[in-house]
Amino acid sequence: MTIVIAIDGPSGSGKSSVSRAVARRLGLAYLDTGAMYRAATWWCRHENVDFADEDAVAHAVATMPLEMGVDPDVPVVRVGGEDVGAAIRTTEISTAVSAVATNLAVRDELRRLQRAAIDAEKLEGFSGGRGIVAEGRDITTVVAPDADVRVLLTASEEARLARRARELHGSDGAGAVEATRDQIVRRDADDSTVSQFHVAADGVATVDSSDLDFDQTVDAVLAVVAQ
Ligand code: CDP
Repeated sequence: MTIVIAIDGPSGSGKSSVSRAVARRLGLAYLDTGAMYRAATWWCRHENVDFADEDAVAHAVATMPLEMGVDPDVPVVRVGGEDVGAAIRTTEISTAVSAVATNLAVRDELRRLQRAAIDAEKLEGFSGGRGIVAEGRDITTVVAPDADVRVLLTASEEARLARRARELHGSDGAGAVEATRDQIVRRDADDSTVSQFHVAADGVATVDSSDLDFDQTVDAVLAVVAQ
């Protein structure tokens, strides 16, 4: 039996690590759609494309030689054969990504690739037809509204900032949280112009991870899957 699990959420909700763990536990493939928008941003920079030129950005992304790995143990992202896994996580890319992600032609193209990756796992793919966990900002609503399980992973702003500060600065002290706030709150606001990921759409289960640790959050999502 094939299962498609769609998980959306804002920055710092823990959706990437939780989604990977869920995929691992269930023997499913894993698709990090945020990594695709990040890779697109990296590619535009690599090709010296002006982010303000929407047509040029759309053209660059349409011709991007992207390879997305879907193994939850080794989620490789390659562009033109180069492993960009670390390069797409820099502050420079995080700051620029919303400009690329709000380009509607880019969204159409990446959504097409995301649906193809999901469809491939229903047939065979990495999972041998068992299925996939796809996570991002618009998976439950636009990319896979017909997914078998749809979850919105939320957390209070305070909890999300503390988590991101720990990831980015190794501390959740006041200074680290303030440094993170600027980046994360602005990006969420920019992203909100094209996808709605703060409130669960009809039929989407909400898991609030504010007071849960990592294992408890994974268990809460698995409980939704088991329903
Ligand atoms: O770092 P964080 O977990 O917040 O973000 P991410 O999942 O790596 O996604 C990076 C960026 O890609 C987001 O800020 C959005 O601009 C964009 N994105 C999107 O527009 N739609 C998605 N389905 C996934 C990500």
